[in-house]
Amino acid sequence: MTRAASLRAASIEQQVNALLERMTLEEKIGQMSQVNAAGGHVPAHLREAVRGGRIGSVLNEVDVTTVNELQRLAVEESRLGIPLLVGRDVIHGFKTVFPIPIGQASSWDPTLVSTGARIAADEAAAHGVNWTFAPMIDIARDPRWGRVAESLGEDPYLAGVLGAAMVRGFQGDDLADRGSIAACAKHFAGYGASESGRDYNSTNIPENELRNVYLPPFKAAVDAGVATLMTSFSDLDGVPATANTFLLRDVLRDEWRSDALVVSDWESIRQLAVHGFTEDDRDSAYQAANAGVDMEMASTTYADHLASLVHDKRISMQQVDTAVRNVLRVKFRLGLFDEPYTDPAAFLPAANDAHLQAAYDAAVASAVLLKNDDWALPLHADQLGTIAVIGPLADDPYEQLGTWVFDGDASHSRTVLRALRERIGDRADVAYARGVATTRSRGHDDFAEAVALAERADVAVLVLGEEAILSGEAHCRADITLPGAQEALLKAVAATGTKVILVLMTGRPLALESAVRHAHAVLCVWHPGTMGGPAIADLLLGERAPSGKLPVTFPRVTGQIPIYYAHRNTGKPVTHESYVFIDDIEARAPQVSVGNTSFHLDTAFTPLYPFGHGLSYSHVEYEHLWTSTAVLRMNGSLTIGVDVVNVGPRDTTEIVQLYVRDLVGDITRPVRELKAFTRVSLARGERRQVEFTLTPRDLAFFGRAHRLIVEPGRFHAWIGGSSATELRTEFVLVDDSTR
Ligand code: GLC
Repeated sequence: MTRAASLRAASIEQQVNALLERMTLEEKIGQMSQVNAAGGHVPAHLREAVRGGRIGSVLNEVDVTTVNELQRLAVEESRLGIPLLVGRDVIHGFKTVFPIPIGQASSWDPTLVSTGARIAADEAAAHGVNWTFAPMIDIARDPRWGRVAESLGEDPYLAGVLGAAMVRGFQGDDLADRGSIAACAKHFAGYGASESGRDYNSTNIPENELRNVYLPPFKAAVDAGVATLMTSFSDLDGVPATANTFLLRDVLRDEWRSDALVVSDWESIRQLAVHGFTEDDRDSAYQAANAGVDMEMASTTYADHLASLVHDKRISMQQVDTAVRNVLRVKFRLGLFDEPYTDPAAFLPAANDAHLQAAYDAAVASAVLLKNDDWALPLHADQLGTIAVIGPLADDPYEQLGTWVFDGDASHSRTVLRALRERIGDRADVAYARGVATTRSRGHDDFAEAVALAERADVAVLVLGEEAILSGEAHCRADITLPGAQEALLKAVAATGTKVILVLMTGRPLALESAVRHAHAVLCVWHPGTMGGPAIADLLLGERAPSGKLPVTFPRVTGQIPIYYAHRNTGKPVTHESYVFIDDIEARAPQVSVGNTSFHLDTAFTPLYPFGHGLSYSHVEYEHLWTSTAVLRMNGSLTIGVDVVNVGPRDTTEIVQLYVRDLVGDITRPVRELKAFTRVSLARGERRQVEFTLTPRDLAFFGRAHRLIVEPGRFHAWIGGSSATELRTEFVLVDDSTR
């Protein structure tokens, strides 16, 4: 922290303490209360509560006139004039909608992700919002879970790098700067492990798994200076996160030394009784306040019971003061005491050309080319007479925006069909058939039109997947194949013999083993946001090239879940030799108990597409993997490098990935773990040396004693274009400090 920053922080602490000393207990509890204010006006009860200093924050009001009136009531008509925090879920854009976070994560580009967050913050701040409930950095390894859409994927390192970039984007260099808003790392913690991918379900996470997998992205966000965190709805090993002293005190405050504001999730304090963790609201208020939840979202257990808990000495005034300090500190850091009001004229208009261009760039970089047989893509417009565009998502301005778009404006959306017509409508017949009414429709009534169109076309582009409502909070699926009759439609179109390009608009990985057989190429664009159409059209036509890599594994079938790359080896790992497919078992095969290994009889033991996978319109080869030394010392570092060669027909961007395996550990370690990555642009024919530096700290993990340890031993290291890369070297880590 620079000297100026530390002086500013000290000044803020003095101002916080000076204000705190003047506050009554009721006013302190007011700062710990956040209420829903949606509605575009200030109802009488809210007016009185703000005047009375009984509210510290509102959420969901985005009419700037109403927000300014709420701030005026707080600043000019309450006794102490404390401004309000104004919260909103600005998850992947405000008016200009960017790809859903799992899509942005496919770019593996922290700068791009940070830019998107900055634009979202700017558009939201123009409406008086000064706090977003993002980034969502729950590690998601179960794509049945609807919230994988708003996550940054399955890997702690990637989610940590990108989550921290989002924090920096939202918060800028200084929270007091115009366009900066407080970020919120959520949902603390372990929410992504909800059993069966069913939202809000129980999580059971051993502490070393929690520390090695689920906590690292939150630590990265805290290290990036995230102003707030939100507790998760879920319980962690039977203790709800909203009352979990291990998470909120031992880890966040004692280990990480964070003074961030902790807000509950929506009524998650009141839900402690529903969990069966507390008797009633009063008990819930006690458990949450005692654990260290600084602010209650939506429910009123603090407003109703905290004063009496203090009077009964069950909650100390010191505990209340600590919570209020955390709230006031964010308000001072935001500069709200100096400038509580918002002047929309001080901001550029939402969805301006620069913002739309950034959303376009993000949609291009978020697309992942999963399959491209016989160079089916890119399409060559001058060789096309008719393009059949088919599917319910090809021309739907709203659905392409994805989940969590409270303020997204579909009128700004550009669809795939519109973009293709704009680009080549003068040279080719870009014809459209919906095929099915919605992604969930089960009827085949509209197939005939689509099939007839495909029969007379040179190529069929099917835009299929999930409507936005099929992912996101509380929208989980037990079968993650293409919903409705879409796979049947794909099959019927493929039966015409016309080349089939599948453009996948989805909020999650889908189980596509059977579906992809009917497509020559598969381009996963997630829910690509406002500029999805132009981005996809330019990718299909080769004006832009795909460069995305999967941040989450695609299973073959739902039954493989959970399936992720950084799994442990087990004592009986499957091999190609040991695997037996169900159809190949001889009748009355003898039962044996030796030689068995870990796999499912009825599906291959690999994912359909692994973490880190993504094709391009060129071809990259990796050669000459080398290390600066075969022996890494505890006080040293090791450089590992490779030649990356573009041997394909055009310039390309490649995301080069470094994976490491710790062969023997205090606990069994994953067979691979992502440790670094970088994006390289390669001209056609270009050879580039790419290097990474590893230090012993990069190899640290939490062992049985739940302490961060680094152990001497043997390591494997890979560099490649996906987690399935085979280009491997090895080194040993030695601890010669004892010599
Ligand atoms: C929701 C979500 C949380 C969101 C909050 C406010 O239930 O779990 O992510 O920020 O409520 O909308």
